[in-house]
Amino acid sequence: MNWENKLPQFPEPYWRDSVKLPSFSKLTEDKKVDVAIVGGGISGITAAYLLTKQGLNVALLEADKLLNGTTGHTTAKITAQHDIIYDELISHFGEEKARLYYEANYDALNFIKKTTRELHIDCDFIEEDAYVYTNSEEKLSKLQKEAAAYSRLSIAGGLVDSMPLDLEMKSAIVMKNQAQYHPLKFMKVLVDKITEAGGSIYEQTTATDVEPGNHPVVTTKDGHKVTCDYLIVGSHFPFYDKGFYFTRMYAERSYLLALKTKKSYPGGMYLSAETPKRSIRYTPFNGENLVIVAGEKHKTGHGTNTFQHYEHLAEFGDELFGIEEVVNRWSAQDLTTLDKIPYIGAMTKDNPNIFVATGYRKWGMTTGTAAGMLLCDIILQKQNPYEQLYTPSRFQADPSVKQFIAQNADVGGHFVAGKIGMVHKTVDELQPDEGAVVKVNGKRAGCYKDANGKLHIVDTTCTHLGCEVEWNDGERSWDCPCHGSRFSFSGEVMEGPAVEPLKKVHLD
Ligand SMILES: Cc1cc2nc3c(=O)[nH]c(=O)nc-3n(C[C@H](O)[C@H](O)[C@H](O)COP(=O)(O)OP(=O)(O)OC[C@H]3O[C@@H](n4cnc5c(N)ncnc54)[C@H](O)[C@@H]3O)c2cc1C
Ligand code: FES
Repeated sequence: MNWENKLPQFPEPYWRDSVKLPSFSKLTEDKKVDVAIVGGGISGITAAYLLTKQGLNVALLEADKLLNGTTGHTTAKITAQHDIIYDELISHFGEEKARLYYEANYDALNFIKKTTRELHIDCDFIEEDAYVYTNSEEKLSKLQKEAAAYSRLSIAGGLVDSMPLDLEMKSAIVMKNQAQYHPLKFMKVLVDKITEAGGSIYEQTTATDVEPGNHPVVTTKDGHKVTCDYLIVGSHFPFYDKGFYFTRMYAERSYLLALKTKKSYPGGMYLSAETPKRSIRYTPFNGENLVIVAGEKHKTGHGTNTFQHYEHLAEFGDELFGIEEVVNRWSAQDLTTLDKIPYIGAMTKDNPNIFVATGYRKWGMTTGTAAGMLLCDIILQKQNPYEQLYTPSRFQADPSVKQFIAQNADVGGHFVAGKIGMVHKTVDELQPDEGAVVKVNGKRAGCYKDANGKLHIVDTTCTHLGCEVEWNDGERSWDCPCHGSRFSFSGEVMEGPAVEPLKKVHLD
């Protein structure tokens, strides 16, 4: 089937209009607080909620609208089953650290469950078993090793030969009693509690720099300063990077569809072991169930014809459930660290009062929650069992070095190749609602012709470290293949590490 005309024209998550989040004005003065937090995603909001609850004076700065980043575009499974990971963690870090990894995520799941009950949050929190299934012989042996790891770590679950979802598979591993929810409905209540407890929230307030010291000072794009005792950088990719994080993480995009289906959903949350990845769950929405199908990951800026990823997911969803309607399509990106464990803790050893929380490998509903809990404990000088596990200053030579070489080998290539790379079209050849790399005034430039025929031309040199951005036709954005920065068709920053927009180019 040709899906192109059956997919929504613009990407947006199914919940976009269903949760009315409060709006906050931008910061218009200098401030002094106990804790400044940059980033209104799951990490920043959870930390702000916990710290204001303890009576600390907190300012949360968000460049855009709260929850408009990856947290507002997630699948929202809440689980410690982070794909096949526990056997690998045991062999790289030992049984104790693997157990701590599981327990940190289990505690985060329980925190969300308990908070949902205590604050009476109506957020579609539903307990479900989580499955990773496979059709390949190679992954079968991995699943068997993973099951042995579950048993060593006393994780409830193990190998099964059937699942509630009728899907062709050789085997699957189940983790019992995991959960799913509506992250915006949950987070909205935390946001209300932050302001009730005296916390300040500022939107449209981009942090651009930090002066470290005993009292770090955050400078905003508008030139205002926030002085604090502690700073949490929860901006997804750290906007302030003193730890070479841009060399220690890589960004991947994935795609999602929300579907009305002919077949009803049998329950459970599913993930394929092999690639192309397929993640499946359902969600209650407007009195019926939607099925969410996600997957098709690729490194940011490396996808050519990104729209086709939606078509592949639609084919998969149709085969499995019979699609009545593709209600929404959207995509998002997340960051993976070299050893697959997030970086949560002091950004560098020299600055023990500046913290970072990032690198959740598409499992930030639990690890972003764990980050808020851990950073709150560190600031309150309470013991937390997971501090050493997540500390960004750890060094595990074996997996880190291999991953570094594999994931960053192409960065230098993009830097050089992009400058001399192919120009794909001329400005005159562009159709309405089409973008491409073109030549303008004799130089490489990026041009998007909008539906009204207006041209938006930008310099394709990324303002982070100078790689060349590529056009993303599925999202109408310019994406950087080096460290994952993204820019709107007119050049505004959508995702860091870049903080400055692409330069505008004018036709001579
Ligand atoms: C397709 C997909 C599916 C996923 N599914 C799941 C799932 O099922 N379960 C799960 O556990 N996890 C899942 N994840 C992962 C999870 O969504 C992310 O790990 C998590 O949302 C990241 O949260 P964050 O707070 O770090 O980032 P964000 O939510 O992106 O928040 C960072 C915020 O910082 C702001 N910001 C950036 N720079 C600045 C600046 N300079 N000044 C001020 N503000 C700034 C941004 O605007 C943004 O709002 C998925 C991820 C993807 C990509
Ligand atoms: S994101 Fe680093 S050069 Fe573009």
